[in-house]
Amino acid sequence: MSIERTLGLIKPDGLERGKQGQLLDRILQNGFKILAMKQLKLTRAQAEAFYAEHSARPFFDSLCSYMTSGPIIAMTLEKENAIADWRTLMGATNPAKADPGTIRKDFAVDMEKNTVHGSDSPASAAREVPFFFSQLEY
Ligand code: CMP
Repeated sequence: MSIERTLGLIKPDGLERGKQGQLLDRILQNGFKILAMKQLKLTRAQAEAFYAEHSARPFFDSLCSYMTSGPIIAMTLEKENAIADWRTLMGATNPAKADPGTIRKDFAVDMEKNTVHGSDSPASAAREVPFFFSQLEY
């Protein structure tokens, strides 16, 4: 296994309900370094660009509305095997199917308001980290 970097997002439902402290604590307790972090509000165009791979899906319009409904926190996370380990810590997209002890099991509202995002592959991480962060930021 090698040291990897991945993108983590705390989505609007997480901030709206004031869960960011607990979420950051879980990330750190699970051995991730937060190399870079910022709070921001996506524009519609930025949300559509970030989720472009889902543009043909029926949930795309609602997803982009939700992701622009309030601030988010973007993070560059680093550890050994970070990409897979962050997805394991997040749990399944649908919180009803998420394993006990995962973030989505414990915090998510529903399939859309699922509290966190993570890159799903090395190729996604290579696209998503620079979407939010320049090299000057870590
Ligand atoms: P995320 O991991 O950020 O990737 C796409 C997002 O679309 C997903 O989390 C959910 O927030 C949202 N979404 C809403 N409905 C669905 C669905 N049916 N399948 C997958 N993702 C969905």
